[in-house]
Amino acid sequence: MLFRLARPALFALSPERAHDLTIAALKRAPGRSPPRQGPLSTTVAGLAFPNPVGLAAGFDKNAQVPDALLGLGFGFAEVGSITPRPQAGNPKPRLFRLVEDRAVINRMGFNNGGAEAALPNLARRQGRPGIVGINIGANKDSADRIADYAEMARAMAPHASYIAVNVSSPNTPGLRALQDEAALRDLLGGVIAARDEATQSHPPPPVFLKVAPDLTAADIDSIARLALESKLGALMVSNTTISRPGLQSSQSAETGGLSGAPLLTLALERLRDFRKATGGALPLIGIGGIGSAEHAWERIRAGASLVQLYSALVFEGPGLVRRIVSGLETLMRRDGFGSIAEAVGTE
Ligand code: FNR
Repeated sequence: MLFRLARPALFALSPERAHDLTIAALKRAPGRSPPRQGPLSTTVAGLAFPNPVGLAAGFDKNAQVPDALLGLGFGFAEVGSITPRPQAGNPKPRLFRLVEDRAVINRMGFNNGGAEAALPNLARRQGRPGIVGINIGANKDSADRIADYAEMARAMAPHASYIAVNVSSPNTPGLRALQDEAALRDLLGGVIAARDEATQSHPPPPVFLKVAPDLTAADIDSIARLALESKLGALMVSNTTISRPGLQSSQSAETGGLSGAPLLTLALERLRDFRKATGGALPLIGIGGIGSAEHAWERIRAGASLVQLYSALVFEGPGLVRRIVSGLETLMRRDGFGSIAEAVGTE
């Protein structure tokens, strides 16, 4: 309701300004508790999620408002991507709202305050309830990007419910080449070793890997194999696409990653590919174009143990989260399932 009134004013601003104002508003929002365990609760990679609907990375890059986001009804919130050192990202404008397509194009380029900005925020919330994942990336000008990921895993592990390794942003040149088999093997080995070193006294947070939707069949096979070998907690499918499937908006030729409604089918197909390649032996997190309970349910039936969304919030506002969560419960009961876990991959 409030969002419907505020939307014209927000849409009159540049998307990045609207985003900054939203973060500022969430900082001041009265603290609401994260959702409680209930009929949609599901355990994935050893973590007990109160519901399977999470906020995707890129919204709260500096971990400023994870608790406010959980208070909107998300079963989990992912902060980042965070890089070791602060970086400004690409020149503005770098974020585009494609209203006719219900889509977003971004070429932010990992703008973030680095580990030094995020760590105090994360330390301050230590001990609070709620699942907060930390998404890690590499600095653009780093001489050793693989070392950046290990450094971030070491620094963030004590504060993370899980660590999401992002090798799929299209906006850091060369980053996605880290999805290639040899590089990925080194990278995951380094991340897991660093995480284990950093968490010797308590249970280590699981490591998740976030991949691009623009992959070949051979890429999918090698990533699936490595993910299983490395005992990752989950594969996250997917990040934004560099493809431009049938867009109407005048800004559709902007460079960057596309997200929102036009990504729905591609991300769903990729999820099915990974389900097939992993044989259901590894949890999958479905991301891309999800904007309704039906979309989330379809992704779960296709093999996702959890889902995440971001772009739909731009168009629908924060009330969407509770609508999706309650709609999912209805769909689960309609189709005769007693739990989310029971429905995963049953399409
Ligand atoms: C993103 N996304 C993203 N992903 C990531 O792993 N690290 C990041 O820093 C960002 N940054 C980012 C910024 C903006 C403005 C957008 C719109 C997206 C990708 C995001 O997490 C998600 O994978 C895609 O947006 C697809 O989901 P939706 O938006 O279609 O629900």
